[in-house]
Amino acid sequence: MSKSIGRREFLKRGGALLAAGGLPLSLVEIAFGTENEDNFTFAYISDSHITHVKGKEFVRNWDRGLIRAVAETNLLDPRPDFIFYGGDIAQLGKPEEIDHGLEILSGLRGDVHYVMGEHDYYLDLGEYWRKQLGPDHYSFDHKGVHFVVLNSILTHDSWTNKKWDKPMDRMKQMARLDNPNGSPFMVGDAQRVWLKKDLDTVSTNTPLVVFSHSPLQKIYKGWNFWTDDAEQVQALLEPFDKVTVLYGHVHQIEYNQIGNISFNSAMATAWPWPYPASYTQAESYMPKLTVEMNRADPFFERDATGWQFINMHTGDVDVHYLLPDNRNRVVGFDEKAGHPVDTRYQAVADRIPPQIHY
Ligand SMILES: [Fe+2]
Ligand SMILES: [Fe+2]
Repeated sequence: MSKSIGRREFLKRGGALLAAGGLPLSLVEIAFGTENEDNFTFAYISDSHITHVKGKEFVRNWDRGLIRAVAETNLLDPRPDFIFYGGDIAQLGKPEEIDHGLEILSGLRGDVHYVMGEHDYYLDLGEYWRKQLGPDHYSFDHKGVHFVVLNSILTHDSWTNKKWDKPMDRMKQMARLDNPNGSPFMVGDAQRVWLKKDLDTVSTNTPLVVFSHSPLQKIYKGWNFWTDDAEQVQALLEPFDKVTVLYGHVHQIEYNQIGNISFNSAMATAWPWPYPASYTQAESYMPKLTVEMNRADPFFERDATGWQFINMHTGDVDVHYLLPDNRNRVVGFDEKAGHPVDTRYQAVADRIPPQIHY
């Protein structure tokens, strides 16, 4: 397989795969030019929420989403250089959930890098996850791109270590979408010191890709679609020419631009979350975003559980969202606008109209 496969051919092949069904994963293409031999791809799978019922029984629907993502990833052509897993393997952080998820993921051909999700963490504070997968923050270089992985779902020690009857009580507070007794996520001082030191060794013209579980931007605090020290992390990324933050957690299509940083979310293999405003029935609890977003139907169960191609062209990212039961979407970096744009639906008149639910 030629590494210099053209983007059009690449997408055509992806389209052929899609014809076989919607695929709950993403493929990221990093390109340094159309025929550059350093071009490469990696796959992205996220938010499987493997849920233990009892004994050897797990919620079948979530198992199937992950099994399918693994199978389709193994069929990808061109082969991705590696696979990234975006967090929330487990639903309630149980060792049997993590083990069951990792057993399914062990079917993947290729190296897998992982980020910690809050559902993996708040039972035993990540002990079992780290035992199985290693450190929760690290960096690596691949063909001219610097990749950083952060654990963004930590919170105040005073909340984490308060007197819980059982560790599962803490887990269940954080596992709720509306978590009035939860606590905001953060990367925290120690990791930000580590990040600064890590980035000090990287030249500012190196394309940077940062993986987190929660968005490193503030979308909606009530649901922890939020990282409390997002601005401080963004400040450390600010010196770099091209920065992309890829995250899971929100189970929906999101994109935004803050300064030099492009933000793109991945969809989940489990279920989609609605946008906060739709869910609360309120007029809008969303903060003013710098780029208005459009999305697929949040109330259609399999909508927003598709897959994406992400074409990172000279440091900028195009995300191809392939939705099994809706029209495919492309959110591409627009050079002129200087931010990600939905290539088909960005204009207000072209958008899927807002839905009213009772
Ligand atoms: Fe999740
Ligand atoms: Fe999450």
